[in-house]
Amino acid sequence: MNAHVSSGAFAVDIAPSSHAITCRGDQTLLDSCIQNGIPARYNCRSGECGECVASLVGGEVYEMPGADPAIFNDKHRAAGKLLLCMCFPRTDVKLNVPLAQDAPAIRPTTINTMVESVERVTPTIYRVRLETPGPVAYRAGQCFEWIAPGVRPNRMYSAANRPGDSAIEFHVRVYPGGRVGAFVSEHMSPGQSLEILGPFGHFGLSASDWRPSICIAGGTGLAPIHAMLDEALARGDSRPLHFFYGARSQDELYCLDTLRGWADKHANFTFTPVLSDEPEGSGWTGARGLVTDVVAAQLQDAFGLEAYLCGPPVMIDAAVAVLETAGFSDSDIHADRFVPAR
Ligand SMILES: Cc1cc2nc3c(=O)[nH]c(=O)nc-3n(C[C@H](O)[C@H](O)[C@H](O)COP(=O)(O)OP(=O)(O)OC[C@H]3O[C@@H](n4cnc5c(N)ncnc54)[C@H](O)[C@@H]3O)c2cc1C
Ligand code: FES
Repeated sequence: MNAHVSSGAFAVDIAPSSHAITCRGDQTLLDSCIQNGIPARYNCRSGECGECVASLVGGEVYEMPGADPAIFNDKHRAAGKLLLCMCFPRTDVKLNVPLAQDAPAIRPTTINTMVESVERVTPTIYRVRLETPGPVAYRAGQCFEWIAPGVRPNRMYSAANRPGDSAIEFHVRVYPGGRVGAFVSEHMSPGQSLEILGPFGHFGLSASDWRPSICIAGGTGLAPIHAMLDEALARGDSRPLHFFYGARSQDELYCLDTLRGWADKHANFTFTPVLSDEPEGSGWTGARGLVTDVVAAQLQDAFGLEAYLCGPPVMIDAAVAVLETAGFSDSDIHADRFVPAR
């Protein structure tokens, strides 16, 4: 055990909601909040998004190193702030934790699944369907940890279909040297068992169903957006939804038939695929360039809009810059960063 991490368990008082929970000394304050159903805000669970920031009102914590100094640094520490995902209690503590406004938190559980299918849908992306013992409770936009054999820490993957089915679909990108990518592409086959843990996260469409929304995804960032659109369109959500989907080339686009089918069927849904590296003369007649540049060119007015972004951190940062220039406020931008596991 890390010498800075205490054994035993500590009382955690959470204001202003008056929750009282217990956190083990070897457990992060965020994990304890999640396990106890406290709807604390978070996304990456690894010190890189800043969403789990809270105030330490009393007591002592150990902060593990590694938080991105661009989002959390000594200025924040001096102001009594901490990141719940990076801190372990060393004594009983009192915290001030801003809570998410969405529906009550669903407590994560371990689910025994069986691989239903594994399908290569682009040169680097696999679609995996995991059969579950019954429909699993989660919200469209949430993700699950995969407890892949021999791979620690667990990697997160977003559910790509709406809840209610007895299978959860995932889209997994294979990176060179990627451990779970190699597991999926080389070892996974139908009938295999795989434990997953979840659901996690607060990414998802807001309850403000009168507000026009734009969604921007790159690569497998499509997965949670796909689940959110699937769920919203199936329940007749009538807010205007415009989805900008960025990929390098035509062979990296997937789920096109479904997305085009939704656009044909639902007057409130528009879909713009954008390719950044498609060879000239390939016959592609759609948008070209960086997806964020195409969004910038098409955004007339930010008034009343909400934005949902998902994909690699570099794409999210570029999209946030475009949206802020267009007049979006922080609270109207919802982002799900696919940060690598550490
Ligand atoms: C909330 C959340 C949801 C996620 N949902 C999805 C999802 O639905 N689909 C999906 O494919 N991934 C998703 N990810 C990323 C996923 O958890 C893994 O990090 C990713 O699949 C790589 O795992 P790996 O074991 O294959 O590679 P690793 O063994 O972790 O890494 C191998 C190499 O690939 C590099 N690498 C890893 N991730 C990236 C990246 N994003 N960009 C550039 N290089 C990278 C590493 O730096 C390393 O050099 C999500 C991440 C988070 C935090
Ligand atoms: S910094 Fe804690 S959840 Fe992202």
